[in-house]
Amino acid sequence: MFSKEDIKTLQQLNLEDGLQFISSKFSEGIVFSTSLGQEDQVITDAVFRNNSPIKVFTLDTGRLFYEHYDLLSKNNSRYQKKTEVYFPESSDVEKYMVEKGVNAFYHSVENRKQCCFIRKVKPLNRALENARVWITGLRAEQSENRENMQILEWDEERKLYKYNPLISWTYQDVLNYLEHHKVQELSLHKKGFISVGCQPCTRAIAEGENPRAGRWWWETSQKECGLHSN
Ligand code: ADX
Ligand code: SF4
Repeated sequence: MFSKEDIKTLQQLNLEDGLQFISSKFSEGIVFSTSLGQEDQVITDAVFRNNSPIKVFTLDTGRLFYEHYDLLSKNNSRYQKKTEVYFPESSDVEKYMVEKGVNAFYHSVENRKQCCFIRKVKPLNRALENARVWITGLRAEQSENRENMQILEWDEERKLYKYNPLISWTYQDVLNYLEHHKVQELSLHKKGFISVGCQPCTRAIAEGENPRAGRWWWETSQKECGLHSN
């Protein structure tokens, strides 16, 4: 559906024009997943302000910060648009809690990945059913794993296009957009949290630390939860 020319075009377009270009290609099935982090607030603003026909959704793992709900509510008031919310299967969570323990993710990488699978990956797969294009706020700078990601990729596992409009943005680009458009953000960012995930698995970082150092800080693993494994 997308040609090499389309990819070149996307690389040259700014965020809002890029979203419009993608929207012109499909009459439905374009979805954007927001974690409510700074990058995702940039895309949310561009989508909602331009009335783009893009479904915006978030994955409520059940272990988020209070601040996530506060920001979700502020987004709803400001843009008067709905963000869909996907929850994990209650039976999966109940089984995990009883069999493994409430905070079992601290005990092994395997337990942690299983929790991420139940609370994030499975609900994501449900949210992506019937989607043709999945938009994310990934940036290449964020980790080694993301360095080789492209602005538009074919996700063979999920059989859809993945559009990463901010892939070549710097963190400063993100801050500039937020400032320029007066976009609201998680109050946690002012307290030293940069990359924010679930509350028990995220800590604030010290100056000079890698921005993702606060995610699953007790692990030396690759610090990915499986949403973007391929
Ligand atoms: S993670 O894999 O380490 O958790 P990260 O927080 O960097 O991901 O976010 C990268 C992208 O994954 C976001 O821009 C967003 O598209 C998606 N994402 C991550 N967490 C969520 C969430 N809870 N709900 C919806 N999308 C999410
Ligand atoms: Fe579970 Fe932590 Fe993964 Fe959230 S980030 S789904 S609490 S292991």
